[in-house]
Amino acid sequence: MACTIIVGGFFGDEGKGKIVAHIAERDRPAIISRGGVGPNAGHTVTVGEKSYGVRMIPSGFVYKDALLCIGTGVLVDPRVFLHEVDLLGVKGRAFVDERCGIIDPAHIERDRGSEHLAKKVGSTGTGCGPANADRAMRTGRQAKDVPELAEYLKDVPLEINESLDDGDSVLIEGTQGFGISLYFGTYPYVTSKDTSASQMAADNGVGPTRIDDVIVVFKAYPTRVGAGPFSTEMTEEEAQEHGIEEFGTVTHRRRRIGEWDGEMARYSAMINGCTQAAITGIDRIDPDCFGCTDYRKLSKAAKDFLSKAEDDIGAPVTLISTGPDISHIIDLREEP
Ligand code: IMP
Ligand code: MG
Repeated sequence: MACTIIVGGFFGDEGKGKIVAHIAERDRPAIISRGGVGPNAGHTVTVGEKSYGVRMIPSGFVYKDALLCIGTGVLVDPRVFLHEVDLLGVKGRAFVDERCGIIDPAHIERDRGSEHLAKKVGSTGTGCGPANADRAMRTGRQAKDVPELAEYLKDVPLEINESLDDGDSVLIEGTQGFGISLYFGTYPYVTSKDTSASQMAADNGVGPTRIDDVIVVFKAYPTRVGAGPFSTEMTEEEAQEHGIEEFGTVTHRRRRIGEWDGEMARYSAMINGCTQAAITGIDRIDPDCFGCTDYRKLSKAAKDFLSKAEDDIGAPVTLISTGPDISHIIDLREEP
């Protein structure tokens, strides 16, 4: 692994946070840097008894030897960032690019007060849309304009590119999911930026020629929060029959749940330039697989599902998540 990007293949909340945390612990990257929109994303990382919902700091924070960066393209809410630095005890290794766009309280008010964003699109109300609008208008503030962030500023792309020159590994952590990309998703029911792998590279100032791997994360039962089309959606009752019910990390809203969407998986893998796929929630396909760490011990139902998914995606499934804990994973990346 040299430079790897991790992105969501469906509508977000595929379990990227857990996959990033696992890869970080195993591959020991020098830098883990976030792309994506901003604090509208919530990543849940469960380690033993503790569960963390992070919105600004990369989910790879559990691996203690990496620098944790926020790429230039990402919006920073200084209050959320500083709170998480404290909560996770990552001062000294958490940095934001000096040019990151800033979310001010007025952006949050505009997001929540807008009929279009709050009601029609069903935004997260975290101020991201209005802050990106101000960035495009060139009226928004940048991280270097915020005194509270002074000690956290870095030239993140420079740091990443120099690390790659030195032969170190870098993990670029995407957020959101393919279906809510401003460009490729279900417009206007989308977020305020592209969410594909190319955008994650651009957010971090890493040129396309420097990317070695793109891992796209898919969820066995995709979910969607907020409004917009969801062709494989099931009813709340059907979801309960499967024993699945989910609530958002940021907004605590109930997530809409659907069946596997092979067509979307294939299209998303294509646009993301997927080289490997991760599939989460296999314990929902077959509860007997909960916590399994050995591919050979998966049930026939689980293996059948994975081989169908692999055909749909058109790239090898190399990471299989079998439960919420960072240890509940099958990693096939080094097997022949
Ligand atoms: P916004 O990004 O807050 O403007 O919200 C626009 C749409 O994207 C809404 O439907 C949100 O629920 C959805 N959205 C934004 N970020 C995420 C995410 O990280 N996971 C899932 N949905 C998201
Ligand atoms: Mg999330």
